[in-house]
Amino acid sequence: MLVLHGPNLNLLGTREPAVYGRLSLAEVDRLIREHARRRGIGVECRQSNLEGQLIDWLQGAAREGFVGVVLNPGAFTHYSFALRDAVAAIRLPVIEVHLSNVHAREEFRRHSVIAAVAQGQISGFGPRSYLLGLDALLVMAPPRPGPRAARSRRTARR
Ligand code: DQA
Repeated sequence: MLVLHGPNLNLLGTREPAVYGRLSLAEVDRLIREHARRRGIGVECRQSNLEGQLIDWLQGAAREGFVGVVLNPGAFTHYSFALRDAVAAIRLPVIEVHLSNVHAREEFRRHSVIAAVAQGQISGFGPRSYLLGLDALLVMAPPRPGPRAARSRRTARR
C-alpha cells in the first residue's frame, strides 16, 4: 500500500498542534508501518508539498506494484482538480484521509473535490485516520485468489 501525505504535513508536530496533534510526520509514519506489519501488508509512506509530485506518484503507483493508496491531500483536497483527475484516472482504490474532522471546521474545508472519485473518506481520527484508511484498503483490495496466493503469502502485499 502507498501512503501519500500532501502539503504542509511535513510540519506535523509543530503545525497547529491543537488541530493536528503533537506527533511528527516521522512518528505518524512509524504508527502506519507498525499497523501495516500487524496486518501483514507492505507499506511505503511519502510526503510532498508539490501537486505534480503527488500526481506522478498516483500515476505510477500501479506500475510500482502498489495495490492501493491512502491519500491525505492536505489543502489540495478542497480545490485541486488536477489531483482529482489523477485519482479518477488510476485503477487502484484510493482512500482519502484527514487527521482533523474537515466537516467540523471552516466552510471551505467541508468540500472535497477528491471525495467523489475516492473509494471513501475518513476524517477526524488523528493519525488513526491513516490506520483506518489501510484497513479500508484491505477491504477494497483483498488478497488475490488462485496461483498468486502462494506468492502473496511469501511476500507482503504492497
Ligand atoms: C488536512 C485537512 C485540510 O483541510 C488541511 O488543509 C490539511 C490537513 C487534515 O489532515 O486534517 O493540510 O488534510
